[in-house]
Amino acid sequence: MENVIAIDGPAASGKSTIANKVSELLKIPYISTGNMYRTVTYFILSKNIVVKSLTNEIVAPILKEIDLKYKENEDGVFDIFLNNLPVGNVIRTPEVANAVSIVAMLPAVRHWLVEKQRALTEYGLILMEGRDIGTEVFPKAKYKFYLTASPEVRAKRRLGQDGETIDGATVESVAKEIKERDERDMTRPISPLKQADDAILVDSSNMTIEEVLEFIISRVNK
Ligand code: CDP
Repeated sequence: MENVIAIDGPAASGKSTIANKVSELLKIPYISTGNMYRTVTYFILSKNIVVKSLTNEIVAPILKEIDLKYKENEDGVFDIFLNNLPVGNVIRTPEVANAVSIVAMLPAVRHWLVEKQRALTEYGLILMEGRDIGTEVFPKAKYKFYLTASPEVRAKRRLGQDGETIDGATVESVAKEIKERDERDMTRPISPLKQADDAILVDSSNMTIEEVLEFIISRVNK
């Protein structure tokens, strides 16, 4: 068994909020693999490359320019570094959100990142959150959860996150964007988003953060 708590699920389903709190409570590192895909996407966009024109051949030399690392800060949180600089919030913009699922379709990008994700188990029990953690990255993870919520609830949650949506965005417009991204994530040929057969489904549409947290912790402590 792999020493991993895997949390997968669609966009804005509350994975990072829950993962943050679970990692705090259990005092284990928490890795957002979405932030890895976002960082690669941010780097590509900063070179003014049109993501739709990307192929494995074009992206391979670009990946060689990227040094992606996680470093533990004094609070025990793992921060992501791009070429030795902390990435911070630049990866949470609507521009990155709209491009990331296209970049994440490229096998060259996925292989490169999955290798890094698997290497992170050297830290003991870790919590990793993403789309394919329980299906591809750690198919033998000790604990697997699939966290979801209704499209409307997810759109409202995303609207509440500062800076992640454009000015004037509405529940409808955000729901549409989330739906498009989920469709790309669920229908791509390589590592599509889906619930692993042995993952526990958590539909948080009508649950508070505390309730989701309690549910997950009780399963892990069992
Ligand atoms: O925070 P949010 O729910 O918007 O998404 P995220 O976890 O930051 O992931 C951003 C995007 O990265 C996803 O829509 C996927 O296209 C991609 N991703 C992936 O393909 N595989 C993962 N393990 C994690 C993210």
